[in-house]
Amino acid sequence: MCGRCQVDVTEGELSKHGIVSRAENLSAPGQAEQRFLGSDGADSGRRLSCHAKIEGDLAIDVPASSQVHRQVIRKPYEAHDIDVNPVVQPCFVEVTTPDILLPEGDLQRVFAALSRDWQLDGLTCNLPAMQQLQDALREGDWQITVAVRNDRQIIAVWPGLKERFYGVAIDVGSTTVAVQLCDLRNGDVLASAGKMNPQIRFGEDLMSRVSYIMSNPGSERQLSDVIRRTVNELIAEVAANADIEINDIVEVTIVGNPIMQHLFLGISPIELGRAPFKLANDGSVDVRASELDISINPGGYAYVLPCIAGHVGADTAGVMLAEMPFERDDMSLIVDVGTNAEILVGNRERLLAASSPTGPAFEGAQISCGQRAAPGAIERVRIDSETLESRFKLIGCELWSDVPGFADALPSGGVTGICGSGIIEAIAEMYSAGIVLPNGRIDGEQAERSTRIVEDGTVHEYVLFDDDQRISITQHDVRAIQLAKAALYAGAQLLMKERGVERVDRVRFAGAFGAQIDARYAMVLGMVPECDLGAVSSAGNAAGTGARIALLDRKARPLIEAQVRNVEKIETATRPDFQDLYVAAMAIPHQESPEKPR
Ligand code: FES
Repeated sequence: MCGRCQVDVTEGELSKHGIVSRAENLSAPGQAEQRFLGSDGADSGRRLSCHAKIEGDLAIDVPASSQVHRQVIRKPYEAHDIDVNPVVQPCFVEVTTPDILLPEGDLQRVFAALSRDWQLDGLTCNLPAMQQLQDALREGDWQITVAVRNDRQIIAVWPGLKERFYGVAIDVGSTTVAVQLCDLRNGDVLASAGKMNPQIRFGEDLMSRVSYIMSNPGSERQLSDVIRRTVNELIAEVAANADIEINDIVEVTIVGNPIMQHLFLGISPIELGRAPFKLANDGSVDVRASELDISINPGGYAYVLPCIAGHVGADTAGVMLAEMPFERDDMSLIVDVGTNAEILVGNRERLLAASSPTGPAFEGAQISCGQRAAPGAIERVRIDSETLESRFKLIGCELWSDVPGFADALPSGGVTGICGSGIIEAIAEMYSAGIVLPNGRIDGEQAERSTRIVEDGTVHEYVLFDDDQRISITQHDVRAIQLAKAALYAGAQLLMKERGVERVDRVRFAGAFGAQIDARYAMVLGMVPECDLGAVSSAGNAAGTGARIALLDRKARPLIEAQVRNVEKIETATRPDFQDLYVAAMAIPHQESPEKPR
């Protein structure tokens, strides 16, 4: 038995698919399967699909270990100048030996040594550190290193001299989870890793996860457990890659959108799914990591950045910290494109934030041949405006499709679909070639010019690739992208209107998708308001960078807490003018400038 066909069964009502998935809808595991999976596997709902027969409605998750083509986790860490002054400092002290005639306990003599050598007074010590203290003192022959947090509390103890502690910055996205392991002495990123968010099996997008929780009371615990387990697996992975002890990790910082943040904290996100969309807490959270089941040093802490509003999360607070628009004179538009677009507009005088419901089309969902970014997905497209012929490039293949040798260089599954950046390019190229009209209709008259444009009922589609599998851009796909880009554009315009500006000086695209899209195509489609092309750039994984800044620089925490309080929050859902802007933004590029870009 090879075990490569393992799947996880999801139980409960899945309103998106209109089914109730139950483990009993699979045939009972036989002896061989039970032996292979052991008691842990059986308890967690894991099955061998080659040994199980589906006998009713069922939803399963294919874990990363069983996937031939894993999702590409596009969350690299960015180099960034950061002041390294973490909240946790190592303090080496020599403690006086105990004397039977003197009453002080071991801890009180440690406090005295810290006051004498480090001028740290009024300290406390948390329980895990206290539990480590006596063994460490004796093993170190009365020389120990303590980890002091915020100059106030001892949180961990080691015998002898210990110079290096570590921290982990965690970015919990709705699609992917990424961590960066940092050396708290110099800020170096020693290892980074990412995984798919396993909550996807409860719902592709955030709102379907909230509706899963609404239909399956108590299931929020399950969603919290799976995400925390994934974070622990990632921490173990980066610690192993950097060859360090998990016990030497003393601090983590966490960013995530409001729903992810609530679930990570073990708070039901139901209130975020219904008006008036209230956060349980719009401040930061500072708790012992063990309270969130995070496996690091037992005395270590987790700092969760503050959310901005019901739809604008701590991930945007991370973006603010990485980009610091509040310290600039020029006018910035910063967008983090995901299932929702989180948008910031402003400068040092006034900064505004909003979230706009773009939906998952930019991530390849709700697109006929759409898929997530993985090997085999089309990510670049070019269309010749004379012949209307296309060429494309795939993730996992260096060659363009019109280059000799392309067929032999394909990833093992061949051409499998088109990812978000590919769809943007395909539709922008179709528009520039005259295949898509400014109103978004695929022009059927162009069928006379190319066999790639084919009729599909009353509408037309453009065939990008036709072999074992046909990859087309349908009229429905163009509409889905129009709706998504109109939401993004209208959200940005609403903030600009509110801020009293007609143009911004710079546009920054944050997030994994933002890092992949080509600014030219974003402009061709009219995803964001006009701006000099040279002033449009990618901010990379700015949310993750913000988490790292909060990990390494203690000053960043009060700074972002104050900025989050100051930022003006705009609720797009309650603004009637948002609807008008939205409708006007449906055209390509948009109603005010329907000219094709040169
Ligand atoms: S155990 Fe090998 S395919 Fe199922």
